[in-house]
Amino acid sequence: MSEAKFVSALRFKWLTPLYDFFVGATMPEVSIKQSLINIAYLTDGAAVLDFGCGTATLTIMAKEHRPAINITGIDIDKTILNKAEEKIIQKGLDIKLTDYNGERLPFEDNSFDRIISCLVFHHLETPVKQKVLAEIFRVTKNNGQLFIADFGRSESWYQRLLFNMIRGLDGFKPTSANAKGLIPSLIAGAGFINPVIKKKFKTVFGEVQIFKAIKQ
Ligand SMILES: C[S@@+](CC[C@H](N)C(=O)[O-])C[C@H]1O[C@@H](n2cnc3c(N)ncnc32)[C@H](O)[C@@H]1O
Repeated sequence: MSEAKFVSALRFKWLTPLYDFFVGATMPEVSIKQSLINIAYLTDGAAVLDFGCGTATLTIMAKEHRPAINITGIDIDKTILNKAEEKIIQKGLDIKLTDYNGERLPFEDNSFDRIISCLVFHHLETPVKQKVLAEIFRVTKNNGQLFIADFGRSESWYQRLLFNMIRGLDGFKPTSANAKGLIPSLIAGAGFINPVIKKKFKTVFGEVQIFKAIKQ
């Protein structure tokens, strides 16, 4: 099978070991991730998927916030999952990790109550975003909910200007739908209802928004 193509967490594979340090130092990472977790309202026993979990910072925070959830982290990059695994073992947490080839998510239909995802979608070109959202829709249970934190179109021209730094780094094609404010309509296009922006964070790289939608 051919290797899946993807944009690494910090664009270049050799920068991956610096990901946690870079994001922690430059972004309000903890605030964004904690808000995502709070808004997702994780309940005991809920089946939760962290899509594009990277080094599992969000996955670990969610598990520590609500220890009785069953959480799985999935990522396309096996190298970053090794780092995630180290962190999870160090903390002694019961978190499943899996990689996949960017095609079909390795889960049955209607498997998860909550899907959470942080700073992944701006790495995906629009047709990939659509394919991934369709897969996420498939594995979400009826009445399950999707929560995505990622860059969106800001009302502030300054935030829009700042987002060009990330666009230059991660590519103008994958970030195009984010810059145009199309994330809610792409989420709706996959079948989710009521896509809304729940919260906005101004950052040095542009505005990060938390999107919520429901599968009915
Ligand atoms: C900027 S990092 C964010 C990691 C983590 N969610 C966080 O907030 O710390 C983006 C992640 O998306 C992953 N990714 C990129 N393309 C992907 C795809 N098609 N499917 C799943 N994960 C993908 C990358 O490997 C990387 O780990």
